[in-house]
Order: sequence, then C-alpha cells, then structure tokens
Amino acid sequence: MIEKHAVSIEKKIITIALIISGGHLLLIAYSAYSLEIDVPGCEKEVKPFDRGSFTKQGEKRYEAHILAKMWSFEPNKISLPLGSVLDLYLTSNDVTHGLHLSYTNTNLTAVPFVVNDAQVKFTPPGTYPMICHEYCGSGHHQMSGVIEVRGDITEGSAEGLPQIEAPPTAGAPVAALPGQKLLQEKGCIACHSETGAQGVGPTFKGLYGRREEMADGSIVTVDDDYLRESILEPQKRVVKGFNPVMPKLPLSEPEVNQMIDYIKTLK
Ligand code: CUA
Repeated sequence: MIEKHAVSIEKKIITIALIISGGHLLLIAYSAYSLEIDVPGCEKEVKPFDRGSFTKQGEKRYEAHILAKMWSFEPNKISLPLGSVLDLYLTSNDVTHGLHLSYTNTNLTAVPFVVNDAQVKFTPPGTYPMICHEYCGSGHHQMSGVIEVRGDITEGSAEGLPQIEAPPTAGAPVAALPGQKLLQEKGCIACHSETGAQGVGPTFKGLYGRREEMADGSIVTVDDDYLRESILEPQKRVVKGFNPVMPKLPLSEPEVNQMIDYIKTLK
C-alpha cells in the first residue's frame, strides 16, 4: 500500500519535471523566434581572432569581430546606417572581459580562445554604449566603446582598428631592390614587362633559369652570364622571335649586378 503510494508520488514528480523542462524549452524557442531575442552561444565555426575587424556582408549587413583587451575594445567605435543588422563576434586576448551593449539585449562575455556572438538589429537611431561588465583590472572602469546608429549615412564604418599592412601584391616585395628602380629609369621595362605580358623584348617574369631558343637556333639557359651579356651586348645573342633592337646602355658593373639580382626575383 505504502509502496503503491510512493510510486504514484514519483510519477507525479516526473510529470511535473517534464512539464517544467518542456515549458523552458518552449520559452526559449518563443523568445528566439517570436521575440527575436538572440540567444548568445559559443560560436564554434569562428576561429579565435587576435585583431578586431569590421566588414560589410551585404546591404545593411555588417560583421564586427571585436577584440576585448586591457582596457579597450577593438574597434571602439562603429557607425551604422539606420536599420542595419550587425553580427557581433567577441573574444579577448588577455583576461575575461564583458560587453554590454546598452539599450539592447546584447550582453556577452569575452573569454580568451572562445568566441561569443550575437546578432543585433539597430532600428532607433542613437548612440549605444559598449561597456565592459567584468572586472578586468585597474583600467576596467574606462573600458568602453560605442555603436552609433545614424539616419544620415549609407555606409557603416569602424574606428580603432589596427593598421594592417597591405598584403604584398605580385612583384611588390621586391620594390625595395635597387635593380627595379634602375630598370625603370633606364627604360628597360618599356620593352620587357615584369608581369609576363608580351612586349618588344622577352618578359622578365620567369626569365631567369628559362631555356630560350636563340635566333640562330641554339638553346640557352638564362643565367647570370647570359643576362650580363644581354645587358652589355644586346645584339650578341637575341631570343628567337624578337628583333635585335635593344640599344647598348652605359651601365656600371654594380648597376648590371643590381639588374640581374632583381630579374632573378621575378619568378
Ligand atoms: Cu574589460 Cu572590465
């Protein structure tokens, strides 16, 4: 009798527990889909980053990687056109920080090696302060930034980002070599391209080490000696298919070497 009673109480408890947890799940689904409250989560697909960034993803769609560090946010000011949607990714590269975005539901924790994210749609224009809400040291109280939503701009922008050196473009890393300057000054590149483009003379790109057929049918592998000869005695051995029109230039020995050194780099 007592046993039977105990079983029925247990059943009741289980039923109530199921109702409560089911209710919670429904509430989460309701807030996520009907109220459009973004439920922050740990973003697995985004690799932890070590510098902030701000990119346009589409019309009024932006993405900000915000790096929290002692004691600032990177970027620290974001300007958005009215109605923009911002995907916000947050991490830290030192201690734990927080990011509370005033007047929104956004409240994230910045943890090293972890990226947290939220999506915010900005409708009313105004200034939305970003505030660090985790005590992070002596500068904690001044760690803040701002998101500014304006009706008078059409493009978003960000301030306080690190200066990124332009990625080296083809040919650029060797710009510092004196040989390149010489080839420009002496007018060589008017006929010999550095890019592989067809010209009056053979292109410098990939020239070094190339096997070239000469006008007389002989084969030459382009090396220092051949380049030197071609610069100093242009008509001596001309690559087949090209006219012997290159003038002799008065060049010093170091100048010739600089030119050869530079041509070697144009692979
Ligand atoms: Cu960062 Cu407090």
